[in-house]
Amino acid sequence: MNGLVAGPLNVHIGRRPILHDVTLGPLARGTVTALLGPNGSGKSTLLRALAGLLPAHGPITLNGQALSSLSRPAHARLCAYMPQALPPPIRMQVMESVLVSLRVQGGSLHDEAFSQAMETLSRLGIADMALRFMDELSGGQRQLVGLAQALVRSPDLLLLDEPLSALDLRHQFTVMDLLRRETKKRRMVSVIVLHDLSMALRHTDVATMLAKGRVLASGPVREVVTSAILAQAYGVQARVEDDASGMPMVCVDGVV
Ligand SMILES: Nc1ncnc2c1ncn2[C@@H]1O[C@H](COP(=O)(O)OP(=O)(O)O)[C@@H](O)[C@H]1O
Ligand SMILES: [Mg+2]
Repeated sequence: MNGLVAGPLNVHIGRRPILHDVTLGPLARGTVTALLGPNGSGKSTLLRALAGLLPAHGPITLNGQALSSLSRPAHARLCAYMPQALPPPIRMQVMESVLVSLRVQGGSLHDEAFSQAMETLSRLGIADMALRFMDELSGGQRQLVGLAQALVRSPDLLLLDEPLSALDLRHQFTVMDLLRRETKKRRMVSVIVLHDLSMALRHTDVATMLAKGRVLASGPVREVVTSAILAQAYGVQARVEDDASGMPMVCVDGVV
């Protein structure tokens, strides 16, 4: 089976149950999945479980392989994860930090590592920052570097937790556009936590909506981001409409 299939998953942190029988997929290779839901609904917990950073009770398979059976380095070769927190402002050059990320996959750096890193920075429009230090960058610039650190590894499974949170409008657009193209070209399974529902409607293929640690809806993004489901998940009165150019957008009129 190609793609990602997970669940039913149950995750506890300490003795507290956080995710309840959460199922995800099958998510096909080459598709971008939006992971949606209100604050505290379990999005980050689910992403960390998929990244192998939290023990989950239940199966997670990627392209037919059980992720739980893999060693740390083998898992890291298949899966790149970008946490919700921005990369820290440390005294390290951008290029160096991207090369360090390649090394997470184990072994020594191959000959093409430098050009691969440079090319990834170029694709994100930050090649000119290669020699700058992380502690001299803005939050948004560091977030772009975090994306470069994940993308440079050409993972089979790309997990991004709120990758747009510090980006300006232009970068939000270019990053989502790039992620979609890269996901198709490299046949990755990409799972992206997003708060901006219009962004999800425009730039992702399928979506899963979490609420209180459970899956409320899953399927094509247009079937998940609907007035009824938004009312249930977020407690808002919202409309999903096409704008003048025929692109879908979400307008919130009030609370339920
Ligand atoms: N380290 C932790 N210890 C205890 N509870 C946690 C921890 N991390 C998250 N939680 C709880 O798990 C639930 C889901 O959190 P999270 O996955 O971060 O939500 P989201 O990313 O959707 O905002 C929340 O109720 C949160 O308080
Ligand atoms: Mg979160």
